[in-house]
Amino acid sequence: MPTIGIPKEIHPGERRVAATPQTILKLKKLGFDVAVESGAGIAIDASDAEYQEAGATIAADAKELWSTSDVVMKVRPPEEGEAELLREGGWLVGFLWPGQNREIVDKLAKRKATVFAMDSVPRITRAQKMDTLSAMANIAGYRAVIEAAAHFPRFFTGQITAAGKIDPAKVLVIGAGVAGLSAIGAAKGLGAIVRAFDPRSATKDQVASMGAEFLELDIKEEGEGKGGYAKQMSDDFLKAEMALFAAQAMQVDIIVTTALIPGKPAPKLITQGMVESMKPGSVIVDLAAEQGGNCALTEPGKVVHHKGVTIIGYTDLPSRMASMSSQLYGACVTALIEELQKPARKQGLDTKQNEEQLNSDVKPSLTVGPPQLVVNLEDEIVRGAIVLHEGKMLWPAPVKEQPPPPEPGVPTKSSAAVAAAAKSSAGHGHDEGTGMHPLTLVGIGLVLLLIGFYVPDSKLSHFTVFMLAVFVGFQVVWNVKPALHTPLMSVTNAISGIILVGGMLQLSGEMNVTTILGAVAVLIATINIAGGFLVTNRMLAMFRK
Ligand code: NAI
Repeated sequence: MPTIGIPKEIHPGERRVAATPQTILKLKKLGFDVAVESGAGIAIDASDAEYQEAGATIAADAKELWSTSDVVMKVRPPEEGEAELLREGGWLVGFLWPGQNREIVDKLAKRKATVFAMDSVPRITRAQKMDTLSAMANIAGYRAVIEAAAHFPRFFTGQITAAGKIDPAKVLVIGAGVAGLSAIGAAKGLGAIVRAFDPRSATKDQVASMGAEFLELDIKEEGEGKGGYAKQMSDDFLKAEMALFAAQAMQVDIIVTTALIPGKPAPKLITQGMVESMKPGSVIVDLAAEQGGNCALTEPGKVVHHKGVTIIGYTDLPSRMASMSSQLYGACVTALIEELQKPARKQGLDTKQNEEQLNSDVKPSLTVGPPQLVVNLEDEIVRGAIVLHEGKMLWPAPVKEQPPPPEPGVPTKSSAAVAAAAKSSAGHGHDEGTGMHPLTLVGIGLVLLLIGFYVPDSKLSHFTVFMLAVFVGFQVVWNVKPALHTPLMSVTNAISGIILVGGMLQLSGEMNVTTILGAVAVLIATINIAGGFLVTNRMLAMFRK
């Protein structure tokens, strides 16, 4: 059995750990042995005994842990001799920031290591459960508001008391990404009036759905870049948004700023002048502190007081809620390990077979690591996250070409499908509308014909309705964008409340068990229908421009 090792984090002040007793249960279930360095969970109140209870063994010190582990799972990138402790050809999974930490990557390459960076897991739907950046940013956004509240000398919520009226605090959130949206939720929860700004127009509805006011600029420039991140904005745009922030700084009490474009220094959006224009007691929490900060006066890792305004530049917000961060981080890393196990499971490789495969010829781009773990470079998630494979540099992953946006007038896939459907209904049937091969269609036709001959007449009409339902269901699901599936499900759920009609038919006559059941059916189906349409409306509102 391969052993996964969890060392104690050595970065000063780091309280998180890459696995909790709960996530270790999952690793054990996946078939791994787990070793934990003694005292690794002290800061999250997880004792060695609790780790042992979950099935882990305890390594006395870092040296023993690193030397006996096939895969080391960490939070922070290796430092102070940790890379040298990894055994030759060992695996490492954790935050690495390979662009900024070339020296560490080189050291790991010398150990012929296979390394996965959690910060490089692509932000795609399938990888959501491995998205440690979002998990940590969500915590950071919440904690930013809690830190602001701890330094702010007033309530967030407004109150009318016998002693007088207290106005609610006004909060401005700059950058409505994961951390920004989480900060909006936390500030609203505390009762503040919240405003937010982001150059990506897609965030407008998300901000509104959280109950905050979205601030807009007159200047029209779309901030959406690749992979859901923002692109670098023009100087004119930055000037215009800074004018907006200058006006807001005089009105609001708290600014939580999260503006960032990955790989770029944080844009300086809050000047010293703006800080000085804020009311005494105001607080700025600068989440981009580690990348230089959005505020000119931010000092990374510190709390600065300037003319009555507090500027918080903590760079360890998730670590300040270490047990929850460790739990979420551990779950994300475990999900990546599970992803690396998938090909082995698919091929039915058991540990022994897998070891044999190490020495046999394997499919191109499919190489085997410690037993049960496979590097499948065709897997988008694995390709995105891998930094080194047996010491060979594979980072950054090649950028996948996005299909160009359709030109006006050029039919899109869905309009082509509609056109094809129209054509086929006009008698020129071919496969484009259904996406099926013509021979498959002929085959289905023959099967249906045979069924028509042999099924008794009494059943034939039911069968026809069934086939039509299958066809309509298939068309409805396959020809609708995946993003619209949830509203679609809720509306079909509502329509399925046809049960209402059945219930109503039972309602007439004397009161007995049947009429009571009918009444219950009517009540439940009504809730189902009304709820379904309400959910659909809310979801569709998110897609309306
Ligand atoms: P994200 O990429 O999801 O969000 C960043 C947002 O900033 C995007 O919505 C983007 O459109 C916006 N933005 C970019 N340029 C802007 C501009 N000129 N004006 C206004 N908005 C702009 O990133 P995420 O995950 O929400 O993280 C936000 C920040 O928080 C990052 O700097 C990240 O490093 C930091 N962070 C800090 C932690 C801490 O302990 N201090 C912990 C976790 C994250």
